[in-house]
Amino acid sequence: MNVFITRKISAVAKELLQREGFSTEEYSGNNAISRKELIKKAKNADGIISLLTEKFDKELIDKLEKCKIIANYAVGFNNIDIKYAKSKGIIVTITPDVLTGATAEIAVSLLLACARRIVESDKFMREKKFVGWEPKLYQGIQLTGKTVGIIGAGRIGQATAKRLKGFGCKIIYYNKSKKAKFESELNAKKVSLVKLMSTSDFISIHLPLNISTNKLLGKEKLELMKPDAIMVNTARGEIIDEKYLLKMLKQKRIFAAGFDVYENEPNFNEELLKLKNVVLLPHIGSATFETRDKMAELAAKNVINVLRGKNPITPVN
Ligand code: DGY
Repeated sequence: MNVFITRKISAVAKELLQREGFSTEEYSGNNAISRKELIKKAKNADGIISLLTEKFDKELIDKLEKCKIIANYAVGFNNIDIKYAKSKGIIVTITPDVLTGATAEIAVSLLLACARRIVESDKFMREKKFVGWEPKLYQGIQLTGKTVGIIGAGRIGQATAKRLKGFGCKIIYYNKSKKAKFESELNAKKVSLVKLMSTSDFISIHLPLNISTNKLLGKEKLELMKPDAIMVNTARGEIIDEKYLLKMLKQKRIFAAGFDVYENEPNFNEELLKLKNVVLLPHIGSATFETRDKMAELAAKNVINVLRGKNPITPVN
């Protein structure tokens, strides 16, 4: 049986699949595979390891002649029409847990970078502008004692909160369901989205992207933020009205924002580049050597299980 991997990922996946007797083909281009090439390669594959850059919509799924599993190399699965895949008997799996720590680290890094003005300060040094210690040079905001609002208290949201608790932050969260263990462990409080937006010093977004979260944070909610607030997004760009947030940042109506994800990746509003109060990352939430190996291993194990008629480890549909 043959497995198509839509991009060069950690070798762990290929090695494991081959050891288990599967033949593999991996797209070796430097950029995301084109739709045309994807259709051509995926058509006859028994299993596919896909990336969030590939859109598995009805049209593409209809082209898959033998596929039993699409193993997404991500925890998000908004790139796949999971209902339609299910109707065609295709199992979709993701890579949860293994990337929780790495993504939480990026959320905290973005927050620290924004609060302590790390990127601006680095640029200042590189421009050889440092002429000596100054009392007011790059003053930022301290984390200690501040209120962090976690939007989406799933695995990554909770892991981010846990790390920020170590910085002496108070935790409030917005989530559909109450998270009792999270509350007792971190003394976290569940609040409404309006309360979270209007009382948090720092806001970190950790929701999955779906119909109910798309543009959840529009003008009305964004305007509730405190003038010194910092917002970081490591989930999906579409959750925020990026254009309106950009307007608020331009007008300095909040202190800063950190982006790891964008509304129309890989495109992003280039106006962002002109702003000092933003930190921009190229969607690297899970990008550690350790995590990407584990993601590859989990994706491959899901494929092996399904193609051998066993249950997938981390299915979504
Ligand atoms: C995911 O897994 O969904 C992340 O966005 C990848 O970094």
